[in-house]
Parts: sequence; structure tokens; C-alpha cells
Amino acid sequence: MSVQFKILMGILVTAATVVVMLLYGINEDNRMNQYQKNFAGRSIQVGAEYYETYCMTCHGERGEGIAGKGPPLNRTDLLDLKGTPYLKAIGWGGTTADFLHNTIAAGRPQFSKFYEDESYQAHMPTWSEDFGGPLRPDQVVSLTNFILNWAPGEYEPVVAPVTPTPGPTATPIPPEEILKAIPFPMPPSDQTLASGKDVYTKYCQACHGENRDGKGPGAAGMAKPPRDFVDCAGMATLGFVTHHDAVANGIPANGMPAWGKKLSNEEIWQVIMYEREPCKLFTPQ
Ligand code: HEC
Ligand code: HEC
Repeated sequence: MSVQFKILMGILVTAATVVVMLLYGINEDNRMNQYQKNFAGRSIQVGAEYYETYCMTCHGERGEGIAGKGPPLNRTDLLDLKGTPYLKAIGWGGTTADFLHNTIAAGRPQFSKFYEDESYQAHMPTWSEDFGGPLRPDQVVSLTNFILNWAPGEYEPVVAPVTPTPGPTATPIPPEEILKAIPFPMPPSDQTLASGKDVYTKYCQACHGENRDGKGPGAAGMAKPPRDFVDCAGMATLGFVTHHDAVANGIPANGMPAWGKKLSNEEIWQVIMYEREPCKLFTPQ
């Protein structure tokens, strides 16, 4: 073989490799686009399910709003993505998607001026775990996509492909183990109860109520009301193990967040004792 021929072959092989890689790369792009589209579609679909569970009671079946409960969301002044007059009126400089996402995540602890005269019965609840609400961040994104899906014209949701975090799973722990894990002497001291109160005020009161009666503002519109810790007949059936399980693993389907990763073992037991205090249920069962 001549040297020239070898060089020529080398060039050809290199060129062929580049072409193959380019073709594959283009195809990969298409596959990514398709994947993104599928993902976005799925996100909207999942969002629709959450909407039905968590939002419909106040905002109506198709986002048309319900008098006295919540404003319409399916409206062009909010969802006309090109220049939403509503966002301008309230002075929001960001995108519609950001506005929806923020509002859903953080809720409206106070009625906004715009809706002052509507006399809604309850505030827009806080939904994201990041703000003490019941939903995971990916669920809030799905809800945002679902609402944007009502926007007039073809809406192409821009979503980063994220893997939804699986809901917490309950790991059965033998009762003896749980009782052994109580990190302070029983019955709880006043100091333990005071620490429990601190945890409660910070993380639980919004839904379970200042008086521990399950009537906190964050519970408005929830499918199932939070436990009333003052109802001693009801509390008699709530054993230590079930109580601990509910706090550590949550009851995600009904909006009770899981606290096992946020609170320490000691804090969890402190708040459990604070919740059992009104009925003095301190004997392990
Ligand atoms: C208990 C009733 C209630 C529930 C349940 C509820 N909302 Fe609301 N929502 C409201 C009220 C009331 C407002 C208006 C609050 C205000 O600004 O005064 C509101 C406002 C909003 C807004 C802002 C609308 C605007 O025009 O500024 C969005 C977006 C929204 N809700 C989405 C949701 C989503 C998504 C869910 C379900 C995860 C949900 N809401 C569940 C009562 C509710
Ligand atoms: C966003 C609202 C919300 C917050 C915040 C919240 N909870 Fe709940 N909680 C609920 C709801 C709703 C239920 C009812 C779920 C059910 O019965 O299926 C519940 C149920 C419970 C139960 C189950 C009792 C039973 O009936 O079996 C316990 C225990 C509990 N919560 C403790 C806590 C503690 C402790 C905190 C704070 C660290 C807390 N919760 C924060 C909404 C909330």
C-alpha cells in the first residue's frame, strides 16, 4: 500500500465516523425532544390528577372558580402568555409560569388586595413541602403545567426532565423498638413538653391548629381533616406506634407531610408527647 493510499483511507474512515456520530447526535436530539414532550405531557396529566384532589373544591372543576371559595384560574387575563394584563395590574414582573408556581408553592397567607371584596371563606393554602405544605416540589411543577395547559393557543411547556421523588414509604418497626427509641424518661417532663410545643408551633400548627383541635388555616379544603388531638375519645385509639408512623412517614395521600427526614428522632417524640398531652395518653400502647 502506498503512503498516499493509507492517508486517504485514514481520512475516509475519520470522515465516515464523524458522519455516523453526527447522524446519531441529531437522532439523539430528536429522542431528547420526544422524551421532553412525553415528559411534559405526563406532567400535565399527573397535574390534572392533583388538581382534582387538592384544588377543585375551591377553584372549580375546569378552573372556572367558585363563589366564596376561590377565584377562576382558567382566564385569559391570567393565562394569555404574551402579555397577561392581570400580572401587570398586580405588578408581577416575572413569567406567568413563575407566578403560578410561586403562588401554588407558598399559598397566600393573606388575601391579596385584588380579591379583598370576594369574601373568600379561607385563604389559598400553602402547598409545597418547602413552605410546610403537603406537596412535593415535583407535584407543584405538575400542577403549574396543568394550569398553563389552559392557556390559549399551543402551549409548549418547558420542563426540565426531573425524576419524581417517590413518596415516603412506611417501614414497619416493631413496637418494642419504637418504645426503646423514646429518648427521654416517661412520662414526659414539662421541659420535654415545652420542646414539643416549639416543634408543633413551627411545623404542625398551620394545619392542626393552635389549640391542637385540627382546625388550622392550612387544613382548609383538605380531603381529610387533620387529627383533633383534643378529642380524647378519638385519641384513645391512636397508639404510640401509629402516632409515630404518621409523623415520621406522613399520610401523603391525604396531605399529611412526612417529617422523618426533617425532624430528629428526639423532636419527633417531643412533638408526639405534646400532641398526646391534652388527653394525657402517656402509657405506651
Ligand atoms: C380552600 C380553598 C382553596 C384551595 C383548596 C386552593 N385554593 Fe388557590 N386560591 C384560593 C383563594 C381564596 C385564592 C385567592 C387568594 C387571594 O389572593 O386573596 C387562591 C388563589 C390561587 C391562585 C392565584 C390566582 C390569582 O388570580 O392570583 C392560584 C394560581 C391558585 N390559587 C392555585 C391553586 C392550586 C393549584 C390549588 C391546588 C393545589 C389551589 N389553588 C387550592 C383558595 C384555594
Ligand atoms: C399541611 C397540613 C399538615 C401539617 C403541616 C401537618 N399535618 Fe398532620 N395531618 C394532616 C392531615 C390532613 C391529616 C389527616 C390525614 C388522615 O387522616 O389520613 C394529618 C394527620 C396527622 C396524624 C395522624 C393521626 C391519625 O389520625 O392517625 C398525626 C399524628 C399528625 N398529623 C401529626 C402531625 C405533626 C406532628 C405535624 C408537625 C410536625 C403535622 N402533623 C403537620 C395535615 C397536616
